[in-house]
Amino acid sequence: MIMKTDAKKNNKKIEKEIEKLIGKLTLDEKISMIHGAGIFRTGEVERLGIPGVVFSDGPMGVRAEFMRDRWIPAGNHDDNVSYLPSNSALASTWNPYRAYEMGHVLGAEARGRGKDMILAPGINIKRSPLCGRNFEYMSEDPNLAATLAVPFIKGVQENDVAACVKHFAANVQETDRLMVDEEIDDRTLYEIYFPAFKAAVQEGKAYSVMGAYNKINGDYCCENKNLLDLVLRGEWGFDGTVISDWGAVHRTKEAAECSMDIEMSVFPDFDEYKLANPLKEAIMKGEISEETVNAKVRNILRMMYRLKVIGKEKNDRKAGSYNTPEHREMILRTAEESMILLKNEKQTLPLNASKIKKLVVIGQNAAKIHSDGGGSAEIKALYEICPLMGLKMYLGGNTQVEYYKGYHVPNKSKTFDHNWQADSLDDLKDTDIGKAVRDEEHMNEMHRKGEEERLAQMEKDKAEVHEKNKVLFAQAIEAAKDADAVIFVGGLNHDIDSEGFDRSDMKLPYEQDALIEALLDVRKDMIVTFIGGSPVEMPWRNKASAILWSYYAGMETGNAFAEIIFGDVNPSGKLAETFPKKYEDCVTAKNGQFGVWGKITLEEGLYLGYRHFDRERITPAFCFGHGLSYTEFTYSGLTLKAEKGKDVKINFTVKNTGKRIGSEIVQVYIAPIAPKVDRPDKELKAYSKVELAPGKSRKVSLTLRQEDFAYFDEHLHEFIADAGDYEILVGASCEDIRLKGIAALA
Ligand code: BGC
Repeated sequence: MIMKTDAKKNNKKIEKEIEKLIGKLTLDEKISMIHGAGIFRTGEVERLGIPGVVFSDGPMGVRAEFMRDRWIPAGNHDDNVSYLPSNSALASTWNPYRAYEMGHVLGAEARGRGKDMILAPGINIKRSPLCGRNFEYMSEDPNLAATLAVPFIKGVQENDVAACVKHFAANVQETDRLMVDEEIDDRTLYEIYFPAFKAAVQEGKAYSVMGAYNKINGDYCCENKNLLDLVLRGEWGFDGTVISDWGAVHRTKEAAECSMDIEMSVFPDFDEYKLANPLKEAIMKGEISEETVNAKVRNILRMMYRLKVIGKEKNDRKAGSYNTPEHREMILRTAEESMILLKNEKQTLPLNASKIKKLVVIGQNAAKIHSDGGGSAEIKALYEICPLMGLKMYLGGNTQVEYYKGYHVPNKSKTFDHNWQADSLDDLKDTDIGKAVRDEEHMNEMHRKGEEERLAQMEKDKAEVHEKNKVLFAQAIEAAKDADAVIFVGGLNHDIDSEGFDRSDMKLPYEQDALIEALLDVRKDMIVTFIGGSPVEMPWRNKASAILWSYYAGMETGNAFAEIIFGDVNPSGKLAETFPKKYEDCVTAKNGQFGVWGKITLEEGLYLGYRHFDRERITPAFCFGHGLSYTEFTYSGLTLKAEKGKDVKINFTVKNTGKRIGSEIVQVYIAPIAPKVDRPDKELKAYSKVELAPGKSRKVSLTLRQEDFAYFDEHLHEFIADAGDYEILVGASCEDIRLKGIAALA
């Protein structure tokens, strides 16, 4: 084990070596290191044994190989990988250990595929349920996102692969994704959008951060001195590598003179990148100092030492591995813990398999593969077990399992298969690449055109769906009448949950609501289940007795699904985001500052997700932190003790009073009683997942630190924890508060 002082000495030695290397590198060589030399790699300096950095997407597995200089899949047969649960699924486990394991799997697979950096995790805060990329992100709550991001990053990086935390910062919408300007006040940035990134950097020790596409307060994130120099490097002490999102750098001088180290893009004219020839020319003319390049190279080399790409430890670099049985086992465990039982009246679930002779399964998501969609999160999965296969594998051949589509899903048209990166290149084939590539307006125009076409196509699809559904509905309803059990598996897919565009509403697509209503009329006991990446309205929810929600849960989805349906696994996932009754209840619907082009103002400040629902006294369909179990838990004996200055130690007991083993996620919220400034009613500050055998109880001890009581004072530019009384709320969800106490902060 390296002692702290040794580590310091070692660091000093490495810094010296870095300076020596910088002294040896020519300007051309240095410049080749700070921009893409392939769509997923930077240039190497063979002469000095410095290889390029090799990147890969993304959060749900290591993406398939692309051609080196074209946005075209290489078409290999050796790049299928383990398909991990999405970050939205992972966050629903509320289990930092599972986050660590998923990070470990992703890191090992990335290294196994020869990558240096995996472009994950995505930790943006979910501001609106309509954001197309929410399925890739964790939560609406900064504490939950931060506490899961940290172990995830550690898991990745113990494989000698860099985690690249994205997208810094406040990448809250896909509409106008390349250019939208977001007006955000400092308090909101520091309390909502920064904490997960700060924890990722300071506690997770992420080696890399990806600058987002959007602007914040007028400046592009990748050219933003406030964001990158003052906050990330200055206040948080980040000394790793900042890379741009692909195509997020717009101007040479601005990007050169702020702490953005590597410019990546989607275009093949690598020498024309802003940090390539244009930068060299500006340096030669004396307009930009060479030291700006040295600073970037320094950060890149430091990361390379950490990854053991160069330096004395080079021969000890981990080799990684992909597609191992251990990875699949860990993926299954996370999938099991990620599914959320939203409703379960009269113990409708679990089903007793031995009593089912005929099972009717209805809905397209029962038999759909999701791993190959979503944008940059798409992967070539080694396999993906859909719910229908999971159910059949579980039940075996003696049970009759009948499957009905129930509703029509139009074929993925070219417009839906929208990947702006690839499309940009398509469009440029016959044009002057040099000119068009550098034309921001052109890129934005194409993005806008793509969006218009997509919306028009959606309208056409609706008519097709309506026509085809007539028959499909009738078949499903008829079949449902005569079965021992009926399971509906609907929801969303990556034609809807996707990079590049936002959802236009929060409704279930393909007329699923009408079908569910009709099915519930004939089968009150139908189990309603969903796979999706973001909340949907469930207008029929009072009629249904059992509702199970799964995010995109990875290659073992079907197995985890069957185990939960038949009770081998007791569900323990809880919502990491609010499920509103209707979109109109959301803050972004009320202020209209979402999904518009040009500029948005985050007028709601801190009040998004449950903070908004609390303040407006709106009851959502299913609140933040909600999730049921097949057993019951009671809470008792809350004690609060002030410790070490302003820390507060919380103790209470949780008991499993039901008949099955199960896990409860206990949540602690702080509610300031008479705050001096405007503050949310309550905020999540601690949680724990406790597994208990029937009849057993356990004492839970959690500590609230002084900073957990603090708010960001914009004038003083620091966090302040005011003295006074704070209510400490302990509960099973943000609405189901079981214990209360008061902590007096001196
Ligand atoms: C996405 C990033 C992704 C990158 C490389 C961008 O369009 O926003 O999340 O890592 O492409 O594929």
